[in-house]
Amino acid sequence: MNPIFLLLFFSLFSLPPFSSSHGFHFPSLLKPSQISKRHNSDQKSSHGYETKHFTQILDHFNYHPKSYISFQQRYLVNGDYWGGAAKSSPIFVYAGNEASIDIFADNNGFLLDIAPTFEALIVFIEHRYYGKSFPFGSEEEAFQNATTAGYLSISQALADYAAFVVDLKKNLSAESSPVVVFGGSYGGMLAAWFRLKYPHLAIGALASSAPILQIDPTFDPYIFNDIITKDYRSTSENCYKVIKNSWDEIDKAYNDSIKLEKMESSLRLCKGQGLYTKYWLSNALIYAAMTDYPTPSDLLQPLPAYPVNEVTH
Ligand SMILES: *[C@@H]1O[C@H](CO)[C@@H](O)[C@H](O)[C@H]1NC(C)=O
Ligand SMILES: *[C@@H]1O[C@H](CO)[C@@H](O)[C@H](O)[C@H]1NC(C)=O
Ligand SMILES: *[C@@H]1O[C@H](CO)[C@@H](O)[C@H](O)[C@H]1NC(C)=O
Repeated sequence: MNPIFLLLFFSLFSLPPFSSSHGFHFPSLLKPSQISKRHNSDQKSSHGYETKHFTQILDHFNYHPKSYISFQQRYLVNGDYWGGAAKSSPIFVYAGNEASIDIFADNNGFLLDIAPTFEALIVFIEHRYYGKSFPFGSEEEAFQNATTAGYLSISQALADYAAFVVDLKKNLSAESSPVVVFGGSYGGMLAAWFRLKYPHLAIGALASSAPILQIDPTFDPYIFNDIITKDYRSTSENCYKVIKNSWDEIDKAYNDSIKLEKMESSLRLCKGQGLYTKYWLSNALIYAAMTDYPTPSDLLQPLPAYPVNEVTH
């Protein structure tokens, strides 16, 4: 339905396959009827996640004494469906992205949908330097200068998740429970890279909407906008044209005080915002497309189900 939410499954045949000696077998695929309607409306308070913290080290990559400074990394865990360590039931780990971890837990119904079938433990781990997982005590301290902010990197974040997974499995005596990593967007990139970099810790990763190829400078830089455009165009050809032509009209309005006043009053804008109007409008359209989910969500902004349809009709 929404082309930007392509799912990339990483089977990664070149990596060591998960040994069947662990006794874990994937149940056959879920039938649509087994997938509940999303839990969004009641998820906020009752999705069953418990908040915990893990003592994480600052720097995974050298032996400088400062590397061993630690900080508290937040994670959310839901054991309602877990079959337990004795049954080698799996652990689903959501690789936290660049925001507070509860935002991702609140907006993710998929793991709750599939956890009962797989008897999986669900864990959402927060990315360092986001939410409540700041080294050096606080956001202000963590970002005060390049020395303190320099530990914010993809490699460090992945190593955090690796250390966390090892410790979690040890604590649960769940060494034989397979781990599958999940993520969307930047979190999806982390999930896929985690599987590549730590193949002994995860049997697989599901990377949703993960723009992995887009970090290649030779990759088409317009693909993101093209996909957004397609989303509107597939919903309404006319709406696509109106939006496309509006950018020129906005530009013209900035050279014409009568047009400008008309635009500012019809869109109820603050006066004198200049080109911000364009960014504001394009962001609104982009956000609606990025979260063009079949259910209401508040991942980026509170929006109804299928917000693109709302815009185009
Ligand atoms: C960054 O801040 C820390 C703590 O205040 C300080 O010790 C350090 O010298 C600063 N580094 C730079 C490069 O300014
Ligand atoms: C594992 O247990 C230790 C000791 O209780 C605790 O400090 C640590 O945070 C636990 N690890 C995780 C991932 O919760
Ligand atoms: C607006 O005016 C400027 C300066 O005269 C001009 O360079 C620009 O092309 C005009 N833009 C439009 C959309 O007419």
